[in-house]
Amino acid sequence: MCGIIGVVGSSDTLATLLEGLARLEYRGYDSAGIALVRPGQTWRARCAAGTESVAALRIECERAPSGFSSGIGHTRWATHGAPEVANAHPHLDCSGNIAIIHNGIIENHTELQVELEARGHTFTSVTDSEVLAHLIEESRSQGLELLDAVRASLKLVRGAFALAAMDAGEPDVIVAARRISPLVVGTAAGVTYLASDVPAILDRATAFYAVNDDEVVRLGPEGFRAVDLDGAPVRLHQLSIEWDLETAQKGGNDDFITKEINEQPDALRDTLMDRRRPDGTITFDELRISDDELREVKRVVLVAAGTSHHAALVAKYAIERWARLSVDVDISSEYRYRDPVVEIGTLVIGVSQSGETIDTIMATREAQRRGARVVAISNIVDSSMAREASAVIYTRAGLEVSVASTKSYVAQIAALELLALRLAQLRGTLDPSDIDAFFHGLNAVGAQVATALERRGHVEDVAKQLIGAHDFFFIGRHLGFPTAMEGALKLKELSYLHAEGYPGGELKHGPLALIEPGVVVVAVATDLVMHEKILSNLAEVKARGATVVAVATDDDDAIAAVADYVLRVPATEPMFSPMVDVVPLQIFAYSMARGLGRNVDRPRNLAKTVTVE
Ligand code: F6R
Repeated sequence: MCGIIGVVGSSDTLATLLEGLARLEYRGYDSAGIALVRPGQTWRARCAAGTESVAALRIECERAPSGFSSGIGHTRWATHGAPEVANAHPHLDCSGNIAIIHNGIIENHTELQVELEARGHTFTSVTDSEVLAHLIEESRSQGLELLDAVRASLKLVRGAFALAAMDAGEPDVIVAARRISPLVVGTAAGVTYLASDVPAILDRATAFYAVNDDEVVRLGPEGFRAVDLDGAPVRLHQLSIEWDLETAQKGGNDDFITKEINEQPDALRDTLMDRRRPDGTITFDELRISDDELREVKRVVLVAAGTSHHAALVAKYAIERWARLSVDVDISSEYRYRDPVVEIGTLVIGVSQSGETIDTIMATREAQRRGARVVAISNIVDSSMAREASAVIYTRAGLEVSVASTKSYVAQIAALELLALRLAQLRGTLDPSDIDAFFHGLNAVGAQVATALERRGHVEDVAKQLIGAHDFFFIGRHLGFPTAMEGALKLKELSYLHAEGYPGGELKHGPLALIEPGVVVVAVATDLVMHEKILSNLAEVKARGATVVAVATDDDDAIAAVADYVLRVPATEPMFSPMVDVVPLQIFAYSMARGLGRNVDRPRNLAKTVTVE
């Protein structure tokens, strides 16, 4: 989730790159950098100044020599390696002539780096991306043109990439390639552009073309030519772009939250990428805690706030079921004031998208002070919590702009379930074949989420019917319970309507007194273990006049008898259902909020990162 841009044949190279990077900051701002290339010279500038990275780069570039008609630029959202200048793109080869920028994850970077170092290459960063510069360097030294050198290098890598490479030995050429990560090419008279997203070049190029997976493009001032990885020519599809700049930054969506809801399959894929060795070992490159320490864990405590707390609730089911460890889940703002018990073998997991939520940081600090080992689950590389914790696992959901969490939630569940599988592997509580099956099942969830997203229209129709309702109860049992909590939170914060999340079995202990005509009960009814019981709960509320909306699987024939509206989702392994079932509830909350004219990206009274107690 980084932004990339390139230009060849321009009289305004520096301004093109800097303007483009400013427009790509929403893809990440851990660092920004450019490389300008002309015969015999590659000039590079990089800055890592958080949200000010592009501004700092602009100042740094005041000392750029003039006379460059080509260059590439990158704004980084860190996945491998801290957000520091050394890890900022562009990366150079050993000669300093070849510059590359990369968005994506090179899964086999560790083995490639070992091989390259054995052949004498020197690495200056701890990114997965730098291997690309050195691979291209090797192919170039065998006499290949840049286009062929990139093709040859890409045959050696696994993973995802949108890549651009330049070489001072072949100036006024950029070679770009794509697998999974987005890439577009733009043209105007005598100038050719590339970018991860159209907004970066929207007001410069006059025609836009999409690069598909495993296509490699050679850009020159006169235009471009595209080939596949074997060198056979391919035609790029021309895009018809009718957006203004603001819409373009939202990827053509009306708002950031829609874009982020739609990005959930990508967030899952990226979070799960590169997590399993060929021998079946679940692995986290960034986890600074030994297998022996994990084996010694006797009890797990998860601390988190808001949506992250709901992801932690899901993790309790996975860790208890798979790793047979006792798990407590705490609201982080309550944990440290309760004089918590931390015994030898207590593992505390702090879950936070931002890694900056003060309640969660204080809770993990307190746990660490009392002697616990702490693992941070953070979406932001080198966040305060990630730095302070004994260990960290990064979700790779990409930058989340909208205040309400969506894609980071599903990524947190995926990361926590992976950790549960790793604990099970180390403790021997699951058969290796079951671990493999769960791992592959987890990797298939993205497709099920995509199917749930395709059903958006029906959810919107249901929301339209319910505009005017003021009281909502979200219920679920077993793994449906955290999803009910999350559905209620999304509705509250986006639409400002009263909504409460409850375990379905708890209604009869009090809240049932509030059920009357006009109240809407939204039930997460996908859990097969508790299906009959949730049907009974729904019959109880229906008998008291509530309107019932149920999230149910495609094969559930019984639900229609108790629900007024059914939001269908594909059936999945129960442990994965929270990631799929939340999708219609996110869309429902969003549609209600839009129907009521709310600001869906910036709900009133809230902030994305909450750094006050
Ligand atoms: C809800 C939401 C908040 C956050 C909470 C914790 O949509 O976004 O409830 O989940 O403020 O934030 P992080 O995960 O950054 O610690």
